[in-house]
Amino acid sequence: MKATAVAPANIAFIKYWGKKDEALRLPLNSSLSMNLSGAYTTTTVEFPPNLLEDDIHMYSAPPRTKIQLPLKFGASKAIGSSEREKISHHLDRIRQKAKIWYKARVATINNFPSSAGLASSASGFAALTMAASEAFKLKLSEKELTVLARLGSGSACRSIPDGFVEWREGSSSGSSFAYSLLPSSYWKLCDVIAIVQNTPKDVSTSDGMSSIKTSPYWKGRINKIPDKIDRIKKALLEKNFQSLGEILEEDCLDMHRVLQTQNPPLYYWNDATIKIMENVRGWRKSGMPVYFTIDAGPNVHLICEAKDEKTLIEKVRNIFGVLEIISNKPAQGTKLSKKHLF
Ligand code: DP6
Repeated sequence: MKATAVAPANIAFIKYWGKKDEALRLPLNSSLSMNLSGAYTTTTVEFPPNLLEDDIHMYSAPPRTKIQLPLKFGASKAIGSSEREKISHHLDRIRQKAKIWYKARVATINNFPSSAGLASSASGFAALTMAASEAFKLKLSEKELTVLARLGSGSACRSIPDGFVEWREGSSSGSSFAYSLLPSSYWKLCDVIAIVQNTPKDVSTSDGMSSIKTSPYWKGRINKIPDKIDRIKKALLEKNFQSLGEILEEDCLDMHRVLQTQNPPLYYWNDATIKIMENVRGWRKSGMPVYFTIDAGPNVHLICEAKDEKTLIEKVRNIFGVLEIISNKPAQGTKLSKKHLF
């Protein structure tokens, strides 16, 4: 009863912000994303019959770090009680499906800074869902896995299918699922992430989005989403990079307008975030097609075509405040691995 899964983080081009049903984690709007090759979570889950409580270990291993297996549990980082509860609660959903009540031993490693607005909950809950379901031999379809992952963290459902993914908002738990629109090999896009802060943020996305309706702009944004999804799908199908970039930047700014006008306001950007946004506009004027998008954090995702990746990385490296760069290509979805962490 042991399995390991590797799940990519994803970057939303059309973002999820706000829930119409908190308990079922149904979103107010459909969203669309690309899986990321350079930011992922590996999770091993085992259900030994004699454990008295869930035993959860989290690690953060920066890129290029060699990980010694099996992991030594003493070296894991401390996990907050709310994070632990969220994970145990999600394991309960899977135990419920399996009708087996064994407690779990879980080890999980992110290859990127956790909780810095880099979708660690997306890759984390996608990997946990697939590993735990496999450990119980549940034989769920991809669609069922996305529904289950969604209950752990909404954006996690988009990390399960391959490449470019749409999460349909749906009107019930079973109809709110994610599926692959196009495979990762479809288009050689890049997401160059400029990390300008690598410590956890003060307000979690779940808490932040629960006050969405205090912003006067939330409804206007939600009403525009179906048209934006149609337009961005068309841009993807036509490989029209300019159109894709304009739409994803528009939705990023629309979402942040909502965040910044909520009560209390959520202002995630820092000086470096703003500097990068200004630079992007300048680079475009001078002929380099690049667009930005930002999740609930200060780090900036710079979307370009593969031909411009190297030049872009050189430019970003020189901006004051950029601590680290993670370059990504479109990635496959969550996969099982035979290499267990313990
Ligand atoms: C800004 O999926 O982390 O990154 O469902 O409450 O766990 P919960 O929220 P989460 O929200 C992600 C929000 C976002 C936009 C996006 O990825 O679509």
